[in-house]
Amino acid sequence: MHSRTLLTLRLCALLGIVLSCVSSHSALMGIAPAPQSPPRYETRAEHDPNGIGKFYMGREIAMVMGHEASDWLDRPEREQEENPAKLMAALKLKPGMAVADIGAGSGYYTFRLAKAVGKTGRVYAVDIQQEMLDLINERQRKLGLRNVVTVMGAIDDPKLKPNSIDLIILVDVYHEFDHPYEMNVNMVKALKPGGRLAFVEFRMEDEEVPIKLVHKMSEAQVKKEMAAHPELKWVETYKGLPWQHLIVFAKKGMPGRT
Ligand SMILES: C[S@@+](CC[C@H](N)C(=O)[O-])C[C@H]1O[C@@H](n2cnc3c(N)ncnc32)[C@H](O)[C@@H]1O
Repeated sequence: MHSRTLLTLRLCALLGIVLSCVSSHSALMGIAPAPQSPPRYETRAEHDPNGIGKFYMGREIAMVMGHEASDWLDRPEREQEENPAKLMAALKLKPGMAVADIGAGSGYYTFRLAKAVGKTGRVYAVDIQQEMLDLINERQRKLGLRNVVTVMGAIDDPKLKPNSIDLIILVDVYHEFDHPYEMNVNMVKALKPGGRLAFVEFRMEDEEVPIKLVHKMSEAQVKKEMAAHPELKWVETYKGLPWQHLIVFAKKGMPGRT
């Protein structure tokens, strides 16, 4: 046999011995191959027609409400169904606060928040549909206000500055987030220490609430999903609204420190 071929064969044999020694050593030492972590999201073929077939922690994510239905967000019936004044009072807003209204839609809550935080405060109205942000900009122009800032978010990131927000409010939106885990990570980053994250969701526990199932959330499910974010602690659940509950978490740490 040619001497170069012989040398190559010897090298291959040596490499084989080394590799088999390494694997038998791992087996002897009881080192198991690294476990694969389960995927964060699950896709199911059978699902609610109002959902997207993507599940997070057992909950199906709802379809995003398109801007074509923005009139529905400003329907007068919301006064009776949601009692917005009572919600505003429960949020304990103060002049000068920086509030983020994530999934602001046409601004139904944005301008109520803007009134409460006053000229020295700011409301960051975040949405992923430019048409919704355009409606808010137009409304702000008509009202002659200057304390609302519209922000184009991404499906996994509200694009807010870290440690800049006193209160994030999510009215009837969290259940639509396509990437809830990533949104939560980025919302936590945006909060100041002591800042609050407030979920306003239709009560799943209450069968009388006439809202489609994937658009409702139970308090237990919200708490289960937020347990993946140990930087937050649950503060209170307010049940005094007609159809919704307000579930509030706060970012751990001393207010005023970043
Ligand atoms: C049902 S509407 C609620 C609007 C408003 N909060 C209200 O109560 O009138 C939900 C809004 O959330 C927006 N949205 C969905 N996913 C979002 C995300 N990841 N980030 C920001 N906005 C989002 C949608 O574009 C839509 O405008």
